[in-house]
Amino acid sequence: MKLPFAESYKIKMVETIKRSTREEREQWLKEANYNLFNLKSDQVFIDLLTDSGTGAMSDKQWSAMMLGDESYAGARSYYKMKEAIKNIMGFDHFLPTHQGRAAENVLFSVLVKEGNIVPGNSHFDTTKGHIEFRKAKAVDCTIDEAFDTVIDHPFKGNLDLVKLESVLSTYPKEQVPMIIVTVTCNTSGGQPVSMANMKAVKKLAEKYEIPVCFDSARFAENAYFIKTREEGYQDKTIKEIVKEMYTYADMATMSSKKDAIVNMGGFIGMKDANLWKQASTYNIMFEGYVTYGGMSGRDMNALAQGLDEGTEFEYLETRIKQVEYLGGRLEEFGVPFQKPIGGHAIFVDAKKILAHIPKEEYQAQTLGCELYLEAGIRGVEIGAILADRDPETRENRYPALELLRLAIPRRTYTNNHMDVVAVALKNVYDRRNEIKHGFKIIDEAPIMRHFTVQLQKID
Ligand code: F0G
Repeated sequence: MKLPFAESYKIKMVETIKRSTREEREQWLKEANYNLFNLKSDQVFIDLLTDSGTGAMSDKQWSAMMLGDESYAGARSYYKMKEAIKNIMGFDHFLPTHQGRAAENVLFSVLVKEGNIVPGNSHFDTTKGHIEFRKAKAVDCTIDEAFDTVIDHPFKGNLDLVKLESVLSTYPKEQVPMIIVTVTCNTSGGQPVSMANMKAVKKLAEKYEIPVCFDSARFAENAYFIKTREEGYQDKTIKEIVKEMYTYADMATMSSKKDAIVNMGGFIGMKDANLWKQASTYNIMFEGYVTYGGMSGRDMNALAQGLDEGTEFEYLETRIKQVEYLGGRLEEFGVPFQKPIGGHAIFVDAKKILAHIPKEEYQAQTLGCELYLEAGIRGVEIGAILADRDPETRENRYPALELLRLAIPRRTYTNNHMDVVAVALKNVYDRRNEIKHGFKIIDEAPIMRHFTVQLQKID
């Protein structure tokens, strides 16, 4: 008999989580104005709000923390992080930042100006926020297949080269500061970008003399998919694949809270020394001196160790197989979600499940609230609330997909937890026709409203 798969680690420390009653959850959700971000973590049984900063660090990461050098300038921890980034991604220059959006803030302060156009593959919301905040425009060039949850394309994060070239040939190069390639593409469902696509994007970028920036939060998961899905990479190590990926990038922003498996941290990787010099000034203003940039020495040590562990095949296989396990259970129950299964999350197709609820009543948010009421599970809406209003017309933007993202923290939950999630969602799915209405917004921020939005139930 073939031996079953098992995790490539064992557990050394645990944290208690609490169940609650449906009545309690109804009360808490109302008090939270139906915004799942407003819930206290103690009101949540299984927290799939994000895979960002929620992973379990390893014994080696914790021991690296004890060796953190907290010197203000030139700390050993800085050099450790520098070496890890050079070894794994190949960048000669880097700046530490406290998280991914801080890296965006610093880098875009140098590069993005009013009226600029920034093409990419479904930019993440903070990325788009930092672009729009500077009165520039993010243009989505993701392939059309990404917007149909049923199509089984192996690289739904890919950029459509025709769409991209049309942007590059329309605007002068002075107006396009960079192309952003998000690996994996979070917004389209944790979907990977193929090596062939990265190579082709870089070739096109060179033709038009535009630099390429990789939004790298889940770069290692992307490399796992290249190894397992793309011709010619089966026998390469994850680290070899990552090295090749970054030959097609001029710079990178990184939220280390994902694939570097730390609770806080980020950085900018750069090939150009002059860019590093310009970005350093903003780093000092916004983040901290260039050798710590908002991070403690201990955190830089844990990050360096996490980058190494996060690019090991056994770890990635364990991680991705857990996401696949949850997807497999949902498949069994007929619950529709974005196919193929992505790297860090299952993206449930709320538009299909709650087709009878108008999009103006926020289908994915409605599904998210129902799942919370069912079993105390917290996901996050990737739909019209997140898509926000058009900055010029102030009209609501309704995206092609209404998704409920169930993001799986790294090395944190067991497959028993995944079973609870799957059955809870099945129960909601089975009673979907009893859910008659969604929500209306009663208060929202002018930008990135989904974090603080207040909602009212429509009866
Ligand atoms: N880029 C991508 C692709 C991301 O997914 C995130 C964060 C960021 C940039 C910003 O990084 O949070 O460290 O400032 N994503 C989290 C999520 C929040 O839940 O997907 P950050």
